[in-house]
Amino acid sequence: MKGVILAGGLGSRMRPLTLVTNKHLLPVYNRPMIYFPIQALADAGIDEILLVTGGNSAGDFLRLIGNGSQFGLKHMSYAYQKGEGGIAEALGLAEHFAAGDRILVMLGDNIIQGNIGPHVRSYLKQSSGAKILLKKVSDPERFGVAVLKGKKVIGIEEKPKKPKSNCIVTGIYMYDQQVFQIIKTLKPSGRGELEITDVNNAYIRMGQMSYDVLSGFWSDCGTFESLLNATNLVARSETRKGKRS
Ligand code: G1P
Repeated sequence: MKGVILAGGLGSRMRPLTLVTNKHLLPVYNRPMIYFPIQALADAGIDEILLVTGGNSAGDFLRLIGNGSQFGLKHMSYAYQKGEGGIAEALGLAEHFAAGDRILVMLGDNIIQGNIGPHVRSYLKQSSGAKILLKKVSDPERFGVAVLKGKKVIGIEEKPKKPKSNCIVTGIYMYDQQVFQIIKTLKPSGRGELEITDVNNAYIRMGQMSYDVLSGFWSDCGTFESLLNATNLVARSETRKGKRS
C-alpha cells in the first residue's frame, strides 16, 4: 500500500497566515503541520509517499522534507496541483504514482495521536472498495457528515446546515484503484471543486464502503480555533513526553 498526502489549496480561511506560505507549513507547536500526516503514514507502515501540493510555496516542501529519510521513508514523491480544483482533483494526480496499488490518503492538515495501522490492516482484508475513518465531534456542520444506518454508512453530506449525526468523515481515506475512474466522472460542486465526498458517495452507492471510528485525538487545522486546539494538544503531549524522559 502506498500513501498520498494532499497539501494544496490557497488556505483562504486562514488569511493572513497563508498569504505568503502554504497552510501545511504553518507550525503546530514544535513542528510544521505537514510533519504530522507524514509521521502518521510512516507509523502505519507506509514507506512510499506522494505529496501533492500547489501554490507559490510548493518548492518549500522539497527543501523541508527532501527525500523523507528523517521519517524513515523509502521514497518521497511530489506532484503539483495548479489552482484550487479540490481534494479529489489533487488525488487524481496520484494515478501514475499508485500504479494499480491501493492507497492510504491523508489530508495534510489532519492531526492524529494514535496509530492508524490497525485500520489499514483491516482495510487490506477487504477484497476491494474503500474505507473511511469517522470521528464524533461537537461541530459536525464544518465537515462531511456520515449518515449511518445500523452498521452501514448510507451517505455523506458535505457541510450540511442540519447534520444528521455528529459522526464526521476525517481526512483519512483508503481506496483501491477504482478511485481514479470515479474521479474522472466527477463534476465540480457549488464551490467549484471536485469533492472527496462525491468520491466516497460513489463507493457507498456501489456498496463498497466500510468505516471504522477513529479512537484517540483527531483534529483538522482548517480554522484558527482548530489550529490552536491541535497546537495545545501537541504541546501537552510533548510536555508529558519530556517529563517521562
Ligand atoms: C474536507 C472534506 C470533508 C472532511 C474534512 C476533514 O473538508 O471535504 O468532508 O470532513 O476535509 O478534514 P475541507 O477541509 O476541504 O473543508
